[in-house]
Order: sequence, then C-alpha cells, then structure tokens
Amino acid sequence: MGDKYIAIMASHRKNKFTEKYLDKYIEELVEDGNEVEKISLRDYDIGICKACGYCGRNYGKCCVEDDMQVLYEKLRKYRNFIFASPVYFNTVSSLAKIFIDRCQMLFECKYNYRKPWSDSEEKGRGIILSVAGACEYENQFKGSEIILDAFFKNLNVEIVEHIKICETDFK
Ligand SMILES: Cc1cc2nc3c(=O)[nH]c(=O)nc-3n(C[C@H](O)[C@H](O)[C@H](O)COP(=O)(O)O)c2cc1C
Repeated sequence: MGDKYIAIMASHRKNKFTEKYLDKYIEELVEDGNEVEKISLRDYDIGICKACGYCGRNYGKCCVEDDMQVLYEKLRKYRNFIFASPVYFNTVSSLAKIFIDRCQMLFECKYNYRKPWSDSEEKGRGIILSVAGACEYENQFKGSEIILDAFFKNLNVEIVEHIKICETDFK
C-alpha cells in the first residue's frame, strides 16, 4: 500500500514551470501507488498574519477568518508533504511566505502549548521542489530550504529531499 501526500503548489502562475514539474512528480507518485491531494495556494483566499498574538492565547485558532481555516484542517491530517515553490529573491514565493506566516498558529501549538497540531505523532517526510529562473548560482535555493525547514518543524516533518530546478527563464 502506498502513502498519502499533500502537495502544496505556491506558484503565482497557473500551469507554468512550478506546477508542471509538480504535476509530473505527482504523476510518478500516483503511478507508484501513492495518493496525492494537490492544493494550489493561488486558489485560496489567504490574508497576512497580523501578528496579533491570538493564536498564542487560543490553542489551534487564528482570528483571521479566511481560507486558512480549511488549510489548517488539511495540514493536520497528513504526514507526507511536497512543497513546490518558485524561487523569488533566493527564497520561496511571496504567496508561500504569506501562507507560512499564517502557520505561526502551528508554532504556538507545538512550542507554547506543547500539543502539536498534527493528528499523528509519527515523524513526517517533507519534499521540497524549488524552481528557479536563472542559471545555477551560490545560495539560489538556500533561503527556500531555511524557511521550509522552519515551517516543517512545526509539523514534526523532516526534509528528506530537495529537488532543485533552474534556468526556467531560458526555456
Ligand atoms: C519576483 C520574482 C523574483 C525572482 N527571483 C529569482 C531569484 O532570486 N533567482 C532565480 O533564479 N530566479 C528568480 N525568479 C525567476 C523565477 O524563479 C522563475 O521564473 C520561475 O520559473 C517562476 O516559477 P513559475 O514558472 O511557476 O511562475 C524570480 C521571479 C520573480 C517574478
């Protein structure tokens, strides 16, 4: 029996390089007998974290009422994650960053309440798919790895693979 994955697509552009590479990767996982739920962040209404501290005072809650409420429920169910983002200024896209900032709620659950958000205590696996436009250069993917490591830690997920694609702006 295969595993269940959630694939988070953080490109601002529909069906461009990040999404195409992700779809290919998902196709292979499904061929191997895994199940994958794909979500495109661009399809969700996600506001910025207001840094109001509400999640620090109310376990598992964020006072911003938008589509993150749906996404929090999805995040709690999965142990296998694929996070696909374009590289913007050597880190993830701004859409990804807005989503990640809203996961401060998960940080509070784990480190303040000491009751992690995930349904399962099993250690999770995280796969990063980063897509960059320029030719390969030093530190091109470093920011993405640092921020996604911080994001995944809140869910007790370890990065097991970072797939790096570059030169899309020449294709
Ligand atoms: C705001 C912005 C910042 C970018 N910064 C970088 C960068 O730091 N390094 C790089 O190699 N490419 C950079 N790119 C190029 C994108 O990573 C590239 O076009 C990628 O294919 C975008 O993903 P998409 O095809 O899914 O939209 C940037 C593009 C934009 C729009």
